Amino acid sequence: MEMAHLDISSIRQDFPVLDQEVHGKKLVYLDSAATCQTPRAVTDALAAFYDQDCANIHRGVYELSQRATDLYEAARGKVQAFMNAAEASEIIFTRGTTEAINLVASSLGEQIVGSGDEVIVSEMEHHSNIVPWQMLCERKGATLKVIPINDEGELILEEYERLLCGKTRIVAVGHVSNALGTINPIKDIIRKAHKAGALVVVDGAQAVPHASVDVQDLDCDFYAFSGHKLYGPTGVGALYGKKDLLNSMPPWQGGGDMILSVTFEETLYAGLPAKFEAGTPNIAGAIGLGAAIDYVTAIGMNRIAEYEQTLLKYATEALGAVPGLRMIGTAAHKVAVCSFEVEGLHPHDIGTLLDLEGVAIRTGHHCAQPVMKRFAVPATARASFGIYNTREEVDALVKALLKAREVFGL
Ligand code: ALA
Repeated sequence: MEMAHLDISSIRQDFPVLDQEVHGKKLVYLDSAATCQTPRAVTDALAAFYDQDCANIHRGVYELSQRATDLYEAARGKVQAFMNAAEASEIIFTRGTTEAINLVASSLGEQIVGSGDEVIVSEMEHHSNIVPWQMLCERKGATLKVIPINDEGELILEEYERLLCGKTRIVAVGHVSNALGTINPIKDIIRKAHKAGALVVVDGAQAVPHASVDVQDLDCDFYAFSGHKLYGPTGVGALYGKKDLLNSMPPWQGGGDMILSVTFEETLYAGLPAKFEAGTPNIAGAIGLGAAIDYVTAIGMNRIAEYEQTLLKYATEALGAVPGLRMIGTAAHKVAVCSFEVEGLHPHDIGTLLDLEGVAIRTGHHCAQPVMKRFAVPATARASFGIYNTREEVDALVKALLKAREVFGL
């Protein structure tokens, strides 16, 4: 039974990849936190670009180049509207969340973090929101501080408040944890950081596919996300940054398109957003991301959030009935991500046995090794859901887990 106002079987028809068998079983794709599947609207937009409009942007006076430029800049406008950024120039296209965070850590970090300063991350961060800050701190002689998490997988906010001080320059926190599914109280985190005089970088990779995000309402300084976790292409993402901050930051990478003029004596840089988009960007990817935004917007982010919450509730209850299953990440506010272990089964064996039943989940440390350490597990099995998943697929997951237990004589 699906929610009456959201026709999931019709949505599934938009995703041709879902209609296949693996190992002779119907594919049940439950790894959308790693990468979402791509609707035909997006692959059509990619094909249309390459078939009809392919040219480099910002460089040609000829028709094709102007069309390509218009499509690329229109995609920027779609990202702006999607995140409710005040201006399109506050949106920088990147390769994804990782590159966006590296951009901020390098450009802003070099500018405002010095010896003795502090950068705060959390214990639930993805490696992409730890390592760039660790590298920055090493370069600058600064210290990385870590907000701990409780047994449910929620940030301990009293500890966060204790960490904030006059030395804190940057707080870099995920909006939603990829390994636990926890939705963090990001607005409160931002408000507290600002009160302490720090800037905030939000890793939104796991948040934007699941609920609407308003960067002006959040008042975050930077917000990063990836296209492929939002039903868009791989290799493209976006960084939102407040205009004044982006304007005051030095460029990151040098090259074509980010300059006004170049001589051997001096280079004058372009304004926003070109200043941060050196070289030919992923033009098709940005256009595809725009199409993905059109796609989810037409369904409605609120409806997506509502549907996925019902699916999460159903999955949590159904998985709870599997003997020996321990859910890792039981926060009060979660997206539809279920990370778990099953007593007597190694997560990798779970992944392999489920694959034989057609069920695709991710197993491992999920690029969040500190989370694994916190919960004293080497790895977890993780089922993550998207707009195309159904209760029947949750049932298939549970059935496959019960079968895996049988195979191991449990
Ligand atoms: N960060 C992605 C995940 O959580 C790859 O699976």
